[in-house]
Parts: sequence; C-alpha cells; structure tokens
Amino acid sequence: MAILDKHKIIETNATLLLVFSFLVVTIGGIVQIAPLFWLENTIEKVEGMRPYTPLELAGREIYIREGCYVCHSQMIRPMRDEVERYGHYSLAAESMYDHPFQWGSKRTGPDLARVGGRYSDEWHVDHLTNPQSVVPESVMPKYGFLKHTEVDGRYIEDVMSQHAFVGVPYTEDMLKTGQADFLAQSDPDSDYDGLVERYGESSVNVRNFDGLPGVSEMDALIAYLQMLGTLVDFSTFTPDASR
Ligand code: HEC
Repeated sequence: MAILDKHKIIETNATLLLVFSFLVVTIGGIVQIAPLFWLENTIEKVEGMRPYTPLELAGREIYIREGCYVCHSQMIRPMRDEVERYGHYSLAAESMYDHPFQWGSKRTGPDLARVGGRYSDEWHVDHLTNPQSVVPESVMPKYGFLKHTEVDGRYIEDVMSQHAFVGVPYTEDMLKTGQADFLAQSDPDSDYDGLVERYGESSVNVRNFDGLPGVSEMDALIAYLQMLGTLVDFSTFTPDASR
C-alpha cells in the first residue's frame, strides 16, 4: 500500500513526474550512447585482415546488386553445428572493412563466410551459370549472364574512395592504381607485382577466374567468393581473451 501511495504522489504531480521521466530518459540515453565512444576498443585487431582488392570489391558490389545476401548469410555463429559445418566462427574483425556488412538474416542457401577456397573456380562458373546442374534440387537463380558482361574497372577508384571515406585504410597509392590492379588480378600474364605488394602476397589470388578472355562480372564475383573467410590464419589464431 505504501508504495502505491508514493507512486500516486508522483503521478498526480506534473512537475515531479517530468523530473523523474527526464532522469530515467537521461540514464537510458547514457547507457546507449556512452559505449559508442569506446567502440574502437571492442573491435579486436586480427592479423591478416586487409581491405578488398579492387576486383574483389567490384565482385562484392555485384553480390549486393544481385541480392545474394537475401538467401545467403556471412556470419558463422559460435555454435557447434555451425562450426562443424562451415569452419571457425566469424570474428568481428573479419567484417571490419565491409560497408555495409553482409551478415544477412536468412539462410535459404548455406552460409558463405568461409566459402573461399572450398571449390574450384570452374565449379563456381558452372554453379553460378546453372546451379541445378550441380545441385538438382537447388532453388538458386541462374547468373550465367555475368560471364557476358565485360567490365573495365573505370569506376572502381570512385568506389574505393567512397570506402576510404568511411574508414577503410586504402592508401593514396592503392586509390591511384585501382583500375590497373583491377585488370591485373584476372590476368596471370600481366605485371601484377604491384598488386600483390599492395595487398599482400599470400592472400591475393591472381587468376583468370571465369576461364574466358577479358574481365567479366563473373571474374569479379568469383574473385570475391574465393577470398571470403580466407584472410585470417586460424591455425595460429588465438582469441584476445585467452592470451
Ligand atoms: C533464391 C535464393 C538464392 C539466391 C538469390 C542466391 N543463392 Fe546461392 N544458393 C542457394 C541455395 C538454396 C544453395 C544450395 C544449393 C546449391 O548449391 O545450389 C546455394 C548455394 C550457393 C553456393 C554454394 C555454397 C556451398 O557452400 O556449397 C554459393 C557459392 C552461392 N550459392 C553463391 C551465390 C551468389 C554469389 C549469389 C548471388 C549472385 C547467390 N548465391 C544467390 C540459394 C540462393
């Protein structure tokens, strides 16, 4: 009864009600806003992470344009069934250069966070061209047209500077050589030394991904798929908390 009485005092006194409401909203606000000032601390730095190469970035743009994220997630949760099926659970740091992130919220198809290196390039070409030729009951649409859309990467430096603007550490050098690096990655006969020097020797695949002459959207998309989840070496990785 006593508590109800006290409550009545507040509820029947507009000024008091305002003061208490303000207090509650202030506390709630601080709880939400304050952690953002220390956001940097919550993202663990992990060895091996690098920004996307221009060709991979173009592939990512196609992935977003075609809505692959509607059926595929890129987020392996730290649960046994997921880790056994897809590999090491996803780290926050692995999405640090993703703008916007591609975690997804629906899995009509499998998670793709670690699909890189799991299949050959030819497999991807066949599968993207006609998924049902590989998995007869697949509901995935056909994307064969990507092979016939040639791209020259003339726009890629603009996309890169947009990503640099939101914090991706592309250097001046990387931004200037964007188009050249774009073309070099899908042509193993080209001079790609600069590309691997800028993005890291061990983690950049230089190949003719779709097996056809010229650079197509298929090349870009497969370059992107083949690097997904491959940057961090999990044979040597130890989480911060257990150090
Ligand atoms: C309508 C839903 C749907 C859309 C959209 C879709 N997929 Fe799929 N995807 C699936 C399903 C279902 C499977 C599993 C059967 C199969 O392999 O085809 C799959 C499988 C895959 C696999 C093989 C994964 C593995 O580990 O076996 C890859 C790679 C893939 N999709 C890439 C893509 C890309 C890239 C796009 C966009 C261009 C895309 N998917 C769009 C439904 C979809």
